[in-house]
Amino acid sequence: MELSLSVAFFFLTFVGLSTAALWGYEDSGPSKWAETFDTCGLKSQSPINIETLNTSLQISLGNMTMTGYETPVALTIKNNGHTAQVDVTGNQYISKGGLSEQYKLAQFHFHWGSDDTKGSEHQISSKTFPMEVHFVHYKNSLGSLGNSVNEKDGLAVLGFMFEISESDNANYADLISKLAAIKAYNTSNLVPLTNTSLMNFIPSNPTNFFRYSGSLTTPTCNEVVVWTVFTETIKISKTQMATFRTLMSSEHGPNNKHYHIKDNFRPVQPLNSRTVYSNFYTSSATAAHITVYTGVLSLILSTILSH
Ligand SMILES: *[C@@H]1O[C@H](CO)[C@@H](O)[C@H](O)[C@H]1NC(C)=O
Ligand SMILES: *[C@@H]1O[C@H](CO)[C@@H](O)[C@H](O)[C@H]1NC(C)=O
Ligand SMILES: *[C@@H]1O[C@H](CO)[C@@H](O)[C@H](O)[C@H]1NC(C)=O
Ligand SMILES: *[C@@H]1O[C@H](CO)[C@@H](O)[C@H](O)[C@H]1NC(C)=O
Repeated sequence: MELSLSVAFFFLTFVGLSTAALWGYEDSGPSKWAETFDTCGLKSQSPINIETLNTSLQISLGNMTMTGYETPVALTIKNNGHTAQVDVTGNQYISKGGLSEQYKLAQFHFHWGSDDTKGSEHQISSKTFPMEVHFVHYKNSLGSLGNSVNEKDGLAVLGFMFEISESDNANYADLISKLAAIKAYNTSNLVPLTNTSLMNFIPSNPTNFFRYSGSLTTPTCNEVVVWTVFTETIKISKTQMATFRTLMSSEHGPNNKHYHIKDNFRPVQPLNSRTVYSNFYTSSATAAHITVYTGVLSLILSTILSH
């Protein structure tokens, strides 16, 4: 997930530089981040590979509740130099699903690959997806995104994976048609989307998710995120997917030519001592039950047979 760094921005504005030099996905890529941003080198970082065979079933997490997501609202999209970010207005909240309280939506943005074989930040049993969208929410009681980025569990981010489909995703047509207007990196260039419900940008009935504690996936990598990664995917055509790769990055090479934004995903980070939970029976949970039942059956059988 991506957040602007108000402190760094303030500092750099003061000394008259652009944030462009700070970090990116090319020359100042993820392997360099920890040199500048200590937190990026800590032990509870995101994204991760979610090894489904090693997740812990927690039925009590239940379903997540989304409130206000169905109301059409005004939205703007911008190129912040690292991704296309949609800023929201209105009141959209998530709650339940194991969250301690209500979290309010601030923005959503995308991570994609240079081709359709990669692009997602999270992996599910080592599978990568062509794109991942992050819906960034902050703890409502803390009042703002800025107040929440340094608090434990201050943010709750929902991650959804994209999968390639034959036909265009009509729900994404308006957003994708606006990408041409934000081709260049310019955070002041806010392009309005047609008023729409946030439901249009997520799978129709997202239910099954993984939960773990992690970080922002971009500097300053704050370890304050309650992650929810859903298994239901969003469909997108190859042509629609390719349009994201036309955006230009804030990062430029030695010849001062800006790069295209592509492969703007951080590689997966070590899980270390963390546990990934699921609110649904994964195949591993099912397999474990089958093993138990098979065990019980053979015990019964052998008991019967021995008599
Ligand atoms: C969660 O949502 C699914 C799908 O809508 C539904 O089948 C299930 O009953 C819900 N579970 C609870 C505990 O509400
Ligand atoms: C779009 O939504 C905003 C509220 O988010 C509202 O003020 C505005 O009137 C709406 N515009 C249209 C054209 O419906
Ligand atoms: C950035 O976008 C704003 C708003 O559209 C525009 O006024 C400004 O000229 C743009 N800046 C550059 C450097 O293109
Ligand atoms: C499985 O999860 C445990 C923590 O719950 C972790 O220590 C272990 O390394 C994980 N194994 C794999 C293969 O991911």
